[in-house]
Amino acid sequence: QYLEMEIDTIEKGGFDHYMLKEIYQQPKTIADAMRGRINAKQGIITLGGINEFENRFLNADRIIIAACGTSWIAGLIGEHLFEDLARIPTEVEYASEFRYRNPIIKNNDIVLAISQSGETADTIAALELARDRDALLYGICNVVGSSIARMTDAGSYIHAGPEIGVASTKAFTGQLVLLTLMALQLARKKGTISSSYFFQLLNELENIPAKVESLLQNDAKIKYVAQEIKDANNALYLGRGYNFPVALEGALKLKEISYIHAEGYPAAEMKHGPIALIDENMPVIVVASNDSTREKVISNIQEVKARKGKVIAIIKEGDQAIEKLVDYAIEIPDTEEPLSPLLSVIPLQLLAYHIAILRDCNVDQPRNLAKSVTVE
Ligand code: G6P
Repeated sequence: QYLEMEIDTIEKGGFDHYMLKEIYQQPKTIADAMRGRINAKQGIITLGGINEFENRFLNADRIIIAACGTSWIAGLIGEHLFEDLARIPTEVEYASEFRYRNPIIKNNDIVLAISQSGETADTIAALELARDRDALLYGICNVVGSSIARMTDAGSYIHAGPEIGVASTKAFTGQLVLLTLMALQLARKKGTISSSYFFQLLNELENIPAKVESLLQNDAKIKYVAQEIKDANNALYLGRGYNFPVALEGALKLKEISYIHAEGYPAAEMKHGPIALIDENMPVIVVASNDSTREKVISNIQEVKARKGKVIAIIKEGDQAIEKLVDYAIEIPDTEEPLSPLLSVIPLQLLAYHIAILRDCNVDQPRNLAKSVTVE
């Protein structure tokens, strides 16, 4: 038993939990997801799976993303990337709904499954359905040789290494890197973004690991905020654009491991319902780091403050105007907007982690949850 404890300690690499270790591994896992795939000087991205089916990708009418859980949320960011950069119409489906609703799938569609484990039963069933309708099947997986990796026509691994914590962290950012690389490679080939913007994004992508490293240093501040909101019964997460899915992911992390009821909402939708819930006991976590929606998000924050809500904002370094408005501000480095989820999600992972620890929850194995859901 002593030996088992020793092995456990070694595997956690000095961290108290796998989840924390995996959060801190992200500078490396994000770099690993790009390794060998980018030639920033020449402006070339190489994903073997896309090269192999280049014509299918360039002529695709649609990309349909099917996934579950955190992978589904990564898919929502993928939708932004594919539409914004590569101008390919994209839909994101819960695999469990898609498989049972006789969806329209054409042979010019690409069905993209995102799955950390590569074994999620509903995602596998969605692929089987798409295969019967002659769509091209592509997979973004972490586990090498998994069922989804084997059954798809082509795909890309995220190379994040084993993810042990049930709540997904480093797999999510790895999935985002792959979706970004796919969108950029297709955008370049299709000529849907300017050469200078392409290079800008590519260079900035290579800066992301160092920026993640630097924002992990904010942990003490996040711990402090966790202390302030650990006794809440509910929490609301808001974001817009590329960061709306990040709000969903922040809320999912919190409910998974701390058992606090949390909802993610597009910030502007708040007035169509959730605003009724806001009072002094309701922490509202706002991802407010994007330039394009900054003014809008500021007015959303003012709406919450007017109702005495407690606002925790993820802001761009040095954004004093928002900092003054809110109760707690957590800074992240500036970046290009399509890449911003890679940074903004990290403080939300840490916040959920610290709150769960303060509530004495089992963060690595939360109640009722499985790492991989291989049955319906
Ligand atoms: C479970 C896990 C989640 C994961 C989801 C999808 O619910 O607890 O962390 O996001 O399954 O899993 P997949 O392996 O397909 O990404």
